[in-house]
Amino acid sequence: MVQKIHSYKKYKEDYQESVEDPGKFWGKIAESFLWRKKWDTVLESDMANADVKWFQGGKLNITENCLDRHLEKNGNKTAIIWEPNNPDEESRYITYRQLYVKVSRFANVLKNNGVKKGDRVCLYMPMIPELSIAMLACARIGAIHSIVFAGFSSTALSSRINDSQCKLLITANEVYRGTKPINLKAVCDEALENTPSIEKVIVYRRTVEPTQMKEGRDSFWFEELQKIENFECEAEEMDAEDPLFILYTSGSTGKPKGMVHSTGGYMVGSTYSFQNVFQYQKDDIYWCTADIGWITGHSYIIYGPLAAGATTVMFEGVPSYPDYGRFWEIVEKLKVTHFYTAPTAIRALAKHPLSLVEKYDLSSLKVLGSVGEPINEEAWHWYNDNIGKGTCPIVDTWWQTETGAIMISPLAGVTPLRPTFATMPLPGVQPALMDEHGKEITESPAEGRLAMKAPWPSIARTIYGDHQRYKDTYFSAYSGMYFTGDGAYRDAMGNYRITGRVDDVVIVSGHNLGTAPIENAVDEHDAVVECAVVGFPHDIKGNALYAYVTKYDEVRISDDELRVEINKLIASSIGAIAKLDKIQFVSGLPKTRSGKIMRRILRKIASNDTSNLGDTSTLLNPEVVEEIMEKSLV
Ligand code: WT7
Repeated sequence: MVQKIHSYKKYKEDYQESVEDPGKFWGKIAESFLWRKKWDTVLESDMANADVKWFQGGKLNITENCLDRHLEKNGNKTAIIWEPNNPDEESRYITYRQLYVKVSRFANVLKNNGVKKGDRVCLYMPMIPELSIAMLACARIGAIHSIVFAGFSSTALSSRINDSQCKLLITANEVYRGTKPINLKAVCDEALENTPSIEKVIVYRRTVEPTQMKEGRDSFWFEELQKIENFECEAEEMDAEDPLFILYTSGSTGKPKGMVHSTGGYMVGSTYSFQNVFQYQKDDIYWCTADIGWITGHSYIIYGPLAAGATTVMFEGVPSYPDYGRFWEIVEKLKVTHFYTAPTAIRALAKHPLSLVEKYDLSSLKVLGSVGEPINEEAWHWYNDNIGKGTCPIVDTWWQTETGAIMISPLAGVTPLRPTFATMPLPGVQPALMDEHGKEITESPAEGRLAMKAPWPSIARTIYGDHQRYKDTYFSAYSGMYFTGDGAYRDAMGNYRITGRVDDVVIVSGHNLGTAPIENAVDEHDAVVECAVVGFPHDIKGNALYAYVTKYDEVRISDDELRVEINKLIASSIGAIAKLDKIQFVSGLPKTRSGKIMRRILRKIASNDTSNLGDTSTLLNPEVVEEIMEKSLV
């Protein structure tokens, strides 16, 4: 098992060692995993060329680390506790041995369907244990899973399937989230109208509703299992650098980026950070409320916790059903010790009567976590006082889909906290603040753009099919460094506070959304000439979306009808999560002489922060700024 850091002193020593000799440091950590063959070199890195390799020559299978390795001593320990959407339905407890058998058996299903090492398999599934089984089964045979969050639209699903040419799609017929049934299979059928690479679809029957199946293409999960007699599946031997999965994240321009994560480095990074940030102990019950469709679910519901032999909770539902006490009811029922959620959920819960919290016994809790966006002071204190009762350290974990694992965070109970600060980098993580001239700011306190000076094991290796874009996006801003896209403040002690994105990505309710694809969807409407979408601060969602839209003169429908239609277009091309909160119709957009929309100004107006609009001298049409401000919807 990975060695845990138990004191602040040890944190500082380990940090120092990780900077001075990363090879030695990570080599020692990697020793505690199960390798078929050890690596030849720990690290080969050329950041300027976006080329990073960890544990080259090493051979392993991550599922042997997540499953096989625990069987002898912990085979009967619960690996996954599944909590259904409907509290009247039974929870499911799956031991490590049961999970091992289910994964092996389903891995044989995949093989039986012609899936081979290196093939891409798309998973579009609700939060049910079968999602974890399917994902680990892919890893077992060396297939690359590409999980698409089941809230995305059919268009978003098909473009992701096509981008990575997935061969097989695994889904469920239907799912309930709250009171709302969602017909996932219908979304898939629509998506599959133009995804020539998909040969087969496997459908898990989550509800008894009748399901449309396409002859020759679709089959049910249970039918597939019935064809399998062998419950053992030898794990495929993978190179440390072989891809484990692809996960799409929004870019500030163009289509979503299929971030490719490696097998060895990702395993080491996700597990090491899980152990050290959360300080998980043997009988703890750990619950991360994220969806597995996001990186948080990949690293901190499945791979990190399972490789560490933890008991991990998976929740199918939403925090508001049957009422806003649902999370706390689950904490009491399962005696959850570690609770990891997003600021947007905390803010939503804090809006409801405290009696919904006080009804439940939360004394099992030891550690609280936050992830996805900056946590504001008020939410931090509400969480600390009412959930942690002032006795649970809050780990505010900063990281990204691209980083694969937590980068900046307190280690629970080990390193000091500072409310609203992600605090200090984990060992092996070397942040830098950069000024507007691209120079590193070495003094503190200071504010700048956040970059990384050295590679870490779980860094994404490329963007699927577009290494140049990977290089341009992350390694071209500052030579030899990784650029995060975030701004940050560093206090005199070296604690970091993330101040938010500095590019055209907006984090809405913890979901990372690029404004460009949303603008494309709005532009599709016949009545729209052009538009600009920006984020603005929102009490609960953290940020919400504001669109400035110019329309043609001869529009037949009312502004309100047009607003509804625009949001429908967004829901169908991206998903309901990307809907606009405010749509202002304007006679023109502020543009530079070179024709670039000045989003910076629009962002300020949308945020009601117009005291200083900054340099507007390059504007071609300053008069529209006046008009936009006058008719602003804020
Ligand atoms: C962006 C990455 C990685 C988990 C989920 C989001 C923001 C993430 C924090 C935090 C302030 C945070 C950043 C980052 N972010 N965690 N603790 N404090 N901001 O993954 O969708 O790839 O988004 O989320 O802006 O760049 P993601």
